[in-house]
Amino acid sequence: MQKRIVIFASGNGTNAQNIIRYFLHHPQVKVVRVLSNKKDAKVLERSKTLGIKAQSFTKEAFLDPGGVLKILKRDRPNLIVLAGFLWKFPSLLLNEFHNKVINIHPALLPKYGGKGMYGNFVHEAIVANKEPETGITIHYVNEAYDEGAIIFQARVALEADDTPEVVAGKVHKLEYEHLPKVIETLLLKKS
Ligand code: GAR
Repeated sequence: MQKRIVIFASGNGTNAQNIIRYFLHHPQVKVVRVLSNKKDAKVLERSKTLGIKAQSFTKEAFLDPGGVLKILKRDRPNLIVLAGFLWKFPSLLLNEFHNKVINIHPALLPKYGGKGMYGNFVHEAIVANKEPETGITIHYVNEAYDEGAIIFQARVALEADDTPEVVAGKVHKLEYEHLPKVIETLLLKKS
């Protein structure tokens, strides 16, 4: 049976696009929908261009059993991937998809996680603290920000003169390389 993925993303969506491309002609895994909390998010356009259903939703729909939950129940995803998704994932959805929601974080958790630590804010903090390395963390999502069980981490060395933009580039490269493969492993090892 084909495994189904729903992606949540808030903005640019290069990770979502990379995941969609990876599974586009995959025999066992399919991205069935992309959902965004921003109606003008670039991710919606990127997804539609690749032939994937994509739509935005409001805060009310996110928290309403007749809103996003209803869409997800219809889509029956085996895995929900938060790829640059910036709203806290609500209990209403976590309860229904227990252990089926994962997130990618652009740093080596538990360092540089928590509220306000996302996207470029993470990379700026890394540079300000002169960290010798950074990386990515793929983890299960629970009620607390960035605190669910870690599934996978990869690290990359930083140079003393790396700017936040350079750090972001190194982190994105790791994300593109590893996230689709980790998703594939998770989906295909489960029955
Ligand atoms: C990614 O680097 C992702 O790890 C990060 O946002 C970026 C989204 O880029 N996520 C977080 O910071 C979540 N706390 P993209 O929209 O180009 O995929």
